[in-house]
Amino acid sequence: MDSNITLKAIDSYDLSHILRIQSFAYEPYYHETFQSFYAKYMASPSTCLLAQIDGQAVGYIVSLPVCGDHLPGLNADNVVPAQTADALYLHDLAIHPEFHQRGIAALLLQTLLELPDAGKCSRVILIAVQNSSAFWKKHGFRVLSEVPPKILRKLDTYGNGAVFMERKLTPALKNKC
Ligand SMILES: CC(C)(COP(=O)(O)OP(=O)(O)OC[C@H]1O[C@@H](n2cnc3c(N)ncnc32)[C@H](O)[C@@H]1OP(=O)(O)O)[C@@H](O)C(=O)NCCC(=O)NCCS
Repeated sequence: MDSNITLKAIDSYDLSHILRIQSFAYEPYYHETFQSFYAKYMASPSTCLLAQIDGQAVGYIVSLPVCGDHLPGLNADNVVPAQTADALYLHDLAIHPEFHQRGIAALLLQTLLELPDAGKCSRVILIAVQNSSAFWKKHGFRVLSEVPPKILRKLDTYGNGAVFMERKLTPALKNKC
């Protein structure tokens, strides 16, 4: 891994960098607007991280605590922060293609899960797209066969092959939720 990778909390000035990385990392179908990122970021700034190399933004992870099956939709421009949460919803992890295979995604994920606000929940959930489920399995996630109807309907909006995945947090990471 590059020794000059640094991670920082995202601030609103970073959202333009995130939109740029998103445009390289995702098929157009998945592109979200500035407002949509801003809404998710504002719901939980402390669980969003940016990766930089020599000060250049190269990747990001955006997540927020959620309650039950209330997940924000793809490109939702309004997100109501959960008052109580039982899961950390990992909405987006993306690395600029020029910087793949350097362990940056793994570092972002590991660092996120060590943050106090992330470790408060007993599990992490996500919707895997673009054939990424094998990546998530390497990081301890499993595909859930029984998916609540509300999340099933949301999965349908994420295109073919989208799967709902979960990783239980280890007791060491888990606090009261
Ligand atoms: C998935 C993604 C975040 C991985 O980023 P990365 O920084 O290259 O990942 P890392 O360097 O930490 O890990 C590389 C490892 O993951 C594997 N990997 C990366 N992307 C993968 C994918 N889509 N499917 C399966 N395995 C994948 C690599 O083969 C490699 O495995 P190895 O360690 O056994 O060699 C990156 O490919 C990406 O931004 N993709 C586009 C956005 C996306 O689809 N995000 C997931 C949405 S749910």
